[in-house]
Amino acid sequence: MRLLLIGAPGSGKGTQGARIAALYGATHLSTGDLLRREVAAGTAIGRQVRDLLAAGELVPDEIVLRLLLPVAVAAADGAGYVLDGFPRTLDQAVALDAELEDAGCALRRVVQLDAPRRHLIARMLRRGADEGRSDDTVEVIRRRLDVYDTATAPVIDHYRAAGLLRLVDGVGTPAAVTRDVLAALPDLVRTVPA
Ligand code: AP5
Ligand code: MG
Repeated sequence: MRLLLIGAPGSGKGTQGARIAALYGATHLSTGDLLRREVAAGTAIGRQVRDLLAAGELVPDEIVLRLLLPVAVAAADGAGYVLDGFPRTLDQAVALDAELEDAGCALRRVVQLDAPRRHLIARMLRRGADEGRSDDTVEVIRRRLDVYDTATAPVIDHYRAAGLLRLVDGVGTPAAVTRDVLAALPDLVRTVPA
């Protein structure tokens, strides 16, 4: 399993990444989760990125690459990886591609989870009310969606041009979306668990 899940904030990358990684014993790597863990632990990186996360701005590429590249390459050794939220700039994608290629574990498929904005916003506001994530407020959600449109669109084009991209409808129950994601991976997944 060498999969990248890409999609707007709230599209279900984390939900699907966890489900698919668990089904196949792969490592689920969420950049957002890793960064939030650094913030919670009060590390030097956490202190550097806390305000950026809370404002919905991207963390500088160097920090993300330093944190994520070694973990992604290490995960590829075993049952593989499901990347969630990384890469999300063209520079990150180019750096990741080169590193994975060198390590002999290049990405095999990129799945874009698609959902209408009103669903994304409703999901994040619900989570904001339930869990209090600092960036799940109306204003910051709007900024995160804008950042996605400008910074991450080129990453989608990059993987489309490489022939790796598949679009999957992210609306439906989490189980139904998982089935559709797995159906988009015929050459990665021999058997689809019930
Ligand atoms: P990150 O944590 O990646 O946040 P995000 O992209 O904004 O996405 P979310 O985690 O909000 O949504 P998701 O697509 O994972 O959906 P989820 O499954 O949670 O990044 C946060 C911040 O970190 C960034 O803004 C940036 O500052 C920084 N950062 C991260 N990566 C970076 C990078 N590479 N470079 C630079 N900076 C970076 O679902 C959302 C909600 O909907 C949940 O409550 C879930 O339960 C619910 N839900 C999921 N699926 C369904 C469904 N099918 N039906 C109904 N509800 C559903
Ligand atoms: Mg997430």
